[in-house]
Amino acid sequence: MASKLTPLVMRTAARFKPIVGNAGHRNTPDNNPDIPFKFTASNEAVIAEILKRYPEQYKKSAVMPLLDLGQRQHGFTSISVMNEVARILDMPPMRVYEVASFYTMYNRTPVGKFHVQACTTTPCQLGGCGSDVIVKAIKEHLGIKQGETTPDGLFTFLEVECLGACVNAPMVQINDDYYEDLTPEKTKALLTALKKSVTDGTKAPAPGPVSGRDTCENSAGLTNLTSEPWGAETTRQDL
Ligand code: FES
Repeated sequence: MASKLTPLVMRTAARFKPIVGNAGHRNTPDNNPDIPFKFTASNEAVIAEILKRYPEQYKKSAVMPLLDLGQRQHGFTSISVMNEVARILDMPPMRVYEVASFYTMYNRTPVGKFHVQACTTTPCQLGGCGSDVIVKAIKEHLGIKQGETTPDGLFTFLEVECLGACVNAPMVQINDDYYEDLTPEKTKALLTALKKSVTDGTKAPAPGPVSGRDTCENSAGLTNLTSEPWGAETTRQDL
């Protein structure tokens, strides 16, 4: 009976918990407004370029690229990064917090050197070996759960929604790069190689399909459009 009396919106809100890293801000030793943040001279030059895209009275439109720049410089979108962006754009800080807390791409808590985001939306769940076994492999290999960072600070793991590479499912995004056509073994080998790139200075694996196919071409090779393309002269003699 109690559940029938509970307003729908409250029951719904209880089911949809805030996404890790995007809950309300709480001051911590590494994320509080007393920690100073300033953009580097080279990033200030980038900001000047970005601001040229907008009329002076609409410069707050640059809030997203500036937050992204701040996150890249600082490692995550701290409260001090947000406050500095608000200062530069003459915006109430709350308006900047609203943007940063809406988009999950802004990491509002520190993440590891490699931010591993595994897509678990339907095409990745069904494509290839499926994302369930990829997620299991990542968790087993790194020894962490959703939203956690390894003790050495190298890896943070997160399950995310479709990243737009469904044709190469299953896939993960690590920092700015996509690794696709994954299997559990290849995923573990990838994570090992990334760790080695830090500890031994070896080259990090190239992004893209780990199956060897070129981008999203048919893995069985070309099956159509195999003849020489017609030239313009064969389609329009009059040109
Ligand atoms: S469903 Fe995974 S990239 Fe689209």
